[in-house]
Amino acid sequence: MPKRTPEAGDQAYLVAMELADLDAVMDIEQRVYTHPWSRASFSDVLESGYAVQLLKAGDTLLGYFVVMQGVEEAHLLNIALAPEYQRQGWAPLMLEAVEIWALAHSAVWLWLEVRSSNTRAQAVYRARGFEPVGRRTGYYAAGRCQREDAVVMRLAL
Ligand SMILES: CC(C)(COP(=O)(O)OP(=O)(O)OC[C@H]1O[C@@H](n2cnc3c(N)ncnc32)[C@H](O)[C@@H]1OP(=O)(O)O)[C@@H](O)C(=O)NCCC(=O)NCCS
Repeated sequence: MPKRTPEAGDQAYLVAMELADLDAVMDIEQRVYTHPWSRASFSDVLESGYAVQLLKAGDTLLGYFVVMQGVEEAHLLNIALAPEYQRQGWAPLMLEAVEIWALAHSAVWLWLEVRSSNTRAQAVYRARGFEPVGRRTGYYAAGRCQREDAVVMRLAL
C-alpha cells in the first residue's frame, strides 16, 4: 500500500508525471473540481508532451500542474493541491516552478484561464503578479445546461 501521509522530515520535490501516477492524480482531480478532467485528458496531455509535474513528499502526492509551451508564451492548463495540503503555502511554490519552467522554454508571458467563481485561485494568482486581462463568455461547463465565464489572466515573465 502506498503511504497516505508524508513522514516527518520528508522533503517535497517535483517530478514528471507518468501514466502510473494516473490513479493518484485522478483521486485529487475528482476531489477538488466540480468538473474534473477525465483520465483520457491526462493521458492526452502526457502523450502531447505537455509538462505535467507532480509535487510529492516521500510517496505522497500533494498536487500537480499542467503547462503547455507556445510561441514565446506558456499556458497553465491545470494546477491543483489535495484539499489536505491547501492553505499551507504550496501554491506559490508551484506557481514559481511553473514560471521557471516557462522561462526555461523562452516564454515571455504566462497565461491561464480560471472560472469567474473561483475567486480563491484568482487571489492566489494575483498575489504572484498575474493580472486579469479579459473574459471568455461561457467558456466552462457549469450546472445542468449552464455555462460559466473564464477570467483570462497573464503574467509578464
Ligand atoms: C488553487 C489552489 C492550487 C491554491 O492553493 P492554496 O493552497 O489554496 O493557496 P495558498 O497556499 O496560497 O493558500 C491560500 C490561503 O492559505 C493561506 N496560507 C498560505 N500559506 C499558508 C501557510 N504556510 N500557513 C497557513 N496558511 C497559509 C493564505 O493566506 C490563503 O488564505 P486565505 O484564503 O484565507 O486568504 C488550490 O486552492 C486548489 O487546488 N484548488 C482546487 C483546484 C483549482 O481551483 N485550481 C485552479 C484552477 S484555475
